[in-house]
Amino acid sequence: MNNKTIVITGATDGIGKIAARELAKTGATLVLVGRNAEKGNLVVNEISDLTSNKNIQFYQADLSLLKQTKLVCDEIKKDFTQIDVLLNNAGGFFADYYQTEEGLEHTFALNHLNYFVMTKELLPLLEAAPSGRIVNVSSDAHNGQSIDWDNLQGENGFKGWSVYGRSKLMNILFTYELAQRISDTTVTANCLHPGFVKTKFGDNNSGLMGIGMKLAKSLAAISLDKGGATSVYLASSPEVDGISGKYFAKSKAKKSSDVSYIENDWKRLWTVSEEAVSKILN
Ligand SMILES: NC(=O)c1ccc[n+]([C@@H]2O[C@H](COP(=O)([O-])OP(=O)(O)OC[C@H]3O[C@@H](n4cnc5c(N)ncnc54)[C@H](OP(=O)(O)O)[C@@H]3O)[C@@H](O)[C@H]2O)c1
Repeated sequence: MNNKTIVITGATDGIGKIAARELAKTGATLVLVGRNAEKGNLVVNEISDLTSNKNIQFYQADLSLLKQTKLVCDEIKKDFTQIDVLLNNAGGFFADYYQTEEGLEHTFALNHLNYFVMTKELLPLLEAAPSGRIVNVSSDAHNGQSIDWDNLQGENGFKGWSVYGRSKLMNILFTYELAQRISDTTVTANCLHPGFVKTKFGDNNSGLMGIGMKLAKSLAAISLDKGGATSVYLASSPEVDGISGKYFAKSKAKKSSDVSYIENDWKRLWTVSEEAVSKILN
């Protein structure tokens, strides 16, 4: 048993679920956040039975919606006074353009703004822990992408894979800027590539894109256990105590793409994100 509290988004499947299972074994209290309450409660029971950890709770929210994200953070803040780890993991690849009911492009809302809001809302609880950690699941799919500031939400021409790759670049820019902003606290922020993992990633897409994703995963993807390993490492290993502002893969720090180190872009993304969020939450 340990007395850590770990919040994981998108813990009902794939990499988030595997990370939840492994982190449950450490005896930590787990807060699993997802959109499907029935599936969430099944996952809680499954992991609880498997690990004998009874301190696992599910919180429901559609994380592509900023208002629901804020509300679920409010619930967590009511129930906990400190959080040791926030694992921002929920995300997906959407081949087609789709706007959420809040008027945001879906990938931008779920893959980036959700991480942004979860982090800002829960930061005081992470600061209340002795050494809080923020772990953002990004992807090597950010390579070759750059932010198209005039088409941030794909309104002027939407290419699903580029939009996905850019959202994963945003995860890195966000992490690097965040690490700077919290450098005078005991909280760290890192991001990671989990590998190409045999999850349900991309299966939501119909037609050739959906078939192609399934085929590619059956040929080349790594197991779920391997896919969750770097998230678990960053959330729990003493080896990363005090390390912040880095990109990891295979549980080792590595270089992200050259464009991800442009500090002006870190700051610009932060400002643009604050503006987008305030239009909806204020
Ligand atoms: N798989 C890969 O090869 C790969 C590679 C690089 C990076 N990644 C990243 O890894 C992360 C996890 O992906 P995965 O491969 O584990 O995919 P997955 O198997 O599809 O799991 C995604 C998780 O996110 C949740 N989710 C999706 N939309 C949500 C929403 N609107 N609100 C709340 N929860 C939502 C899903 O909930 P449901 O159970 O309700 O569907 C599920 O728990 C993503 O950030 C992805 O970009 C994956």
